[in-house]
Amino acid sequence: MRLHVLGTAAGGGVPQWNCACPGCAGARAVPSRRRLHASVAVETEPGRVYLVNATPDIAEQIERCPWLRPDGRRTRLSGVILTDAELDHTLGLARLREADELEVMATDAVRDAVHKGLGLGEVLAPYTRLRWRDFDGVELEPLSGKRPRYARDACDGDWVSALRVGGLLYAPSTGVWTDGFGEDADLILVDGTFWDNEEPRTAGFSTKSATGMGHLPVLATRDRLAALSARCLYTHLNNTNPLVDPDSPLHAELADRGLGVAAEGAVLTW
Ligand code: MLT
Ligand code: MN
Ligand code: ZN
Repeated sequence: MRLHVLGTAAGGGVPQWNCACPGCAGARAVPSRRRLHASVAVETEPGRVYLVNATPDIAEQIERCPWLRPDGRRTRLSGVILTDAELDHTLGLARLREADELEVMATDAVRDAVHKGLGLGEVLAPYTRLRWRDFDGVELEPLSGKRPRYARDACDGDWVSALRVGGLLYAPSTGVWTDGFGEDADLILVDGTFWDNEEPRTAGFSTKSATGMGHLPVLATRDRLAALSARCLYTHLNNTNPLVDPDSPLHAELADRGLGVAAEGAVLTW
């Protein structure tokens, strides 16, 4: 099976429209440093391609994926799988309103947030139909109960999951290290939002730590990932993460451990 990396940035992308931090300024100066919101297209069997998460960049991401070139007036997109209900992973559903219908797979908590929190079922009803379906050939492994900020009063549930497709584990939001995480995987795309735990505070955009925001920093996961037999690549990089600079010496610290950052446009197999 194979996937196409369509985006590797956390919410806001790189550059983020209202930010001139070194990562954002660097991406404005050097276009090859730009990153779209984290997403992959996964081919679960020949001819069945799912987008994993529906980002604000979704239309551009579909254009970039040769597997998703439309055929006549028909899309080749089989559906969308949501690993959480964060705005940067769900708002793209609205952008697909031209679809005849849209097949979506998600946990109950995420589905309810899309309907009740975002109102997207009702808003989209005059345009297209969201058809929620059971998992088939893919699984969502629960990772944490961290809710999106807009759903803070919602019930407990499986809010954040990793997508498992055979030997692939796609986990752009890893707030806690669950027992046995990734032990039987061949390929893992994992949360690289922040380099260190204090980054949101030192960058000045939050009073919370990385872990407090639901993201284990790279410094807390790199040795654990290096101990796994799987090929492990970071994704969902925030614009404050020094890894958004390809010249950062920190890339060598990952390479020493056999790790790296997922490259947009890469096709990976497992
Ligand atoms: C996240 O990845 O934790 C969210 O996108 C952050 C947020 O917008 O609350
Ligand atoms: Mn996010
Ligand atoms: Zn920035």
